[in-house]
Amino acid sequence: MQNLSAKIIGVGMSVPEKRLTNFDLEKMVDTSDEWISKRVGIKERRVAEENEYNSTFATAAAKDAIEMAGLTPEEIDFIIVGTTTGDTAYPSVACIVQNNLGAVNAAVVDVAAACTGFIYGAGIAWSMIKSGLMKNILVIASEVNTAMIDWHDRDTCILFGDGAGAAVFTATEETGTGVLSMELGGDGSCQELLVMPNSGSRKYTNPDGTPMMRAIQMTGNEVFKNAVRRMNEAALAVLKKAGLSNEDVDLLIAHQANIRIIDAVAKRLKLSPEKVYINIQKYGNTSAATIPIALCEAVQEGRVKSGDLLVVDAFGAGLTWGAMAIRWA
Ligand code: ACO
Repeated sequence: MQNLSAKIIGVGMSVPEKRLTNFDLEKMVDTSDEWISKRVGIKERRVAEENEYNSTFATAAAKDAIEMAGLTPEEIDFIIVGTTTGDTAYPSVACIVQNNLGAVNAAVVDVAAACTGFIYGAGIAWSMIKSGLMKNILVIASEVNTAMIDWHDRDTCILFGDGAGAAVFTATEETGTGVLSMELGGDGSCQELLVMPNSGSRKYTNPDGTPMMRAIQMTGNEVFKNAVRRMNEAALAVLKKAGLSNEDVDLLIAHQANIRIIDAVAKRLKLSPEKVYINIQKYGNTSAATIPIALCEAVQEGRVKSGDLLVVDAFGAGLTWGAMAIRWA
């Protein structure tokens, strides 16, 4: 069999027009721009309107990624969407995007790995391409988190935003180019740290028997510690698997959940600030979508050049985590 790998040839992103600033949140809950900026690093986030769905942003991001890749929708073999906030439980967002794009030859699936959804999707794409089963795979991550927010809960409502990012992976025979290595992991024993009650078939009730609200419940400080540990370990693992070290990294694109988490991971990896991509201030935590949105902006801003070594690194509910080392083509 040929020595195949997968490289990214197109990226795209789409976020809602509507902005919700920290100053807007000051009017909604007992919080301040100063607290959010200092403790989390967010200044504003984007919020979907009622007539905008997860698939709206997923489709727009996908169109740009396919255009940059120079492909037609018919050439896409597989559409994978990382999401836990799809339009509906079924059809999947991938099915809706396939129809919107006219990608009639594509297989379709959504991947539920919370904030690690893009990395898990990219891992599946890499494996399918590496095995020679498929050639062009569109990996999207898209979230409308603000539909799942308790706007009275200052612990969580300040954190999240909406949006989508996408990347087209294609087969390459060039050695040392594209995806070099991958690390995926999970720890279901920590499932209680991040839960979205009443978002599936299990019924959650309050002590008085009333249905619990469908809104994120998080043990923030425990999630924080796990995020730093797991993202650090995942980044080191992909570097080791690729025969590289932290000194080889040109750009770290880490899950944008909290600026202090990113700083802590970067410090452990001994990366200087110019080697760490940050856009959390503009979009907040868009769950699975933070990595492809950041990747798209990094490419558009000229922060990623041919030959650069990228490490993408994410962490989320489950718990789940994952990283990839990518030599940019
Ligand atoms: N505004 C003002 N004060 C606040 C706010 C707020 N929005 N939220 C909490 N506080 C207060 C608390 O009440 C507390 O006050 P006290 O000291 O009087 O009791 C104080 O600030 C400190 O609270 P902590 O919860 O200890 O604050 P912390 O520094 O841990 O920050 C945060 C909280 C931002 C949630 C942090 O723990 C975090 O980022 N955790 C990780 C989140 C994450 O990574 N999520 C990713 C996964 S999401 C997914 O997978 C879907």
